[in-house]
Amino acid sequence: MMETQKTVHGAWSSRFAFILAATGSAVGLGNIWKFPYITGENGGGAFVLVYLFCVLLIGIPIMIAETMLGRRSQRNPIETMQILTEEAGADKNWHYLGWMGVIAGLLILSYYSVIAGWASAYVFKAFAGSFFDADAKEIKTIFNNFVGSPIQLIFWHSLFMLATMLIVVRGINNGLEKATQYLMPSLFVLMFLLVGYAMTTGSYFQGLQFLFIPDFSKLTSNSVLTAMGHAFFTLSLGMGAIMVYGSYLPKNISIAKTAFLIAGADTIVALLAGIAIFPIVFANNLHPNSGPGLIFETLPIAFGSMTGGWLMGILFFVMLTIAALTSSISLIEPAVAWLVENKGFSREKACAWTGGLTWVLGLGTVFSFNVWSDVTFFERTIFQLLDYLTANLMLPIGGFCIAIFAGWMMKSQHSAEELDMPTQAGYDAWKLLISYVAPAAVFFVFLHVVGVL
Ligand code: PHE
Repeated sequence: MMETQKTVHGAWSSRFAFILAATGSAVGLGNIWKFPYITGENGGGAFVLVYLFCVLLIGIPIMIAETMLGRRSQRNPIETMQILTEEAGADKNWHYLGWMGVIAGLLILSYYSVIAGWASAYVFKAFAGSFFDADAKEIKTIFNNFVGSPIQLIFWHSLFMLATMLIVVRGINNGLEKATQYLMPSLFVLMFLLVGYAMTTGSYFQGLQFLFIPDFSKLTSNSVLTAMGHAFFTLSLGMGAIMVYGSYLPKNISIAKTAFLIAGADTIVALLAGIAIFPIVFANNLHPNSGPGLIFETLPIAFGSMTGGWLMGILFFVMLTIAALTSSISLIEPAVAWLVENKGFSREKACAWTGGLTWVLGLGTVFSFNVWSDVTFFERTIFQLLDYLTANLMLPIGGFCIAIFAGWMMKSQHSAEELDMPTQAGYDAWKLLISYVAPAAVFFVFLHVVGVL
């Protein structure tokens, strides 16, 4: 049955293409924009340590599981869950997992696109020389004036959504594969150059200390939840993005090895971003906890004062925008693949509907930075609420269910066959992590947050 349905579903041209696309999905605003500001808000080192543990013990096993589920069914996440539930003889309700993922993807994209719009707007600010010799105060004013303007935010949000839709319309092989090929290496180089600048600020070691010396007294249960949620967010886990990419993966490729590669690259980019940003924060007497504006209030100071800063500023924001694009397409792809494969939509129509819906939702985030900045639910603005709901709740819950499904519902014979690990010990280690460690960790953190533990 699976074979005959495969016709409309694409396939990657090689293992390398999959690695590029999955890394493209993982590396994005989460690494460069979000990781530094939530690290700043949650007190630094201890938070980073928890995040790293979560990547290793929860993230990587779940990434392996998610890729495996997708590849086994070779369908979109909703159908994947239906097909594999049948194969495992499990309860029908498991397919709601696919649904939750599709919804989480669109909700995330709604605010992701707004922030990516900021990055694209900053390309032009950098080009216009707005940061030239500007001090921290001037840079902050530029940022505040910008996010204070709903019209400007809507303009850039619209442009970014449009770009996402244009790439997704073209399907995986044409649009996606090419975009990532040059991006990752260039991004690495640029991050290293920024770290080089950070070394000259005089506060380099203070920055490193903040990032890497844990002070556990700063850790609340909510910070632990945020760190865990971020491990899911930054690796694109728990909502089907990696599942849908896995579904395009040819059968003869080792899943475990690629998961380590992808998670490794993703973590390095995030740490480099932190190492570049915090010294600038301290050198300019800024606050680490200044929120979502952090990179927009710090990095332009570097671009405005360093040699070659004009060009670097432009390149940096161009790359940040492209990195966001290669993530945004994976946020929308599960929904589009489902509409095309199950509802008979053309790719164009599917993109138009999902993109349109997401655009409208994104207006909530746009206004939460200006005209609706006082509108709060549970003491959170619309943007903060969406972020909390998706990254801290939906993704970990999705990941938890994926772990339970892969570890307990699916027959070991099937998972072993699909993963085809080089050693039995490797498989056993994965099985232990996915059946016990990952789900227990997520459960434990949740219990802690609601105050049971
Ligand atoms: N991983 C992406 C980032 O760090 C965001 C993302 C989350 C993409 C979930 C897909 C799914 O920017």
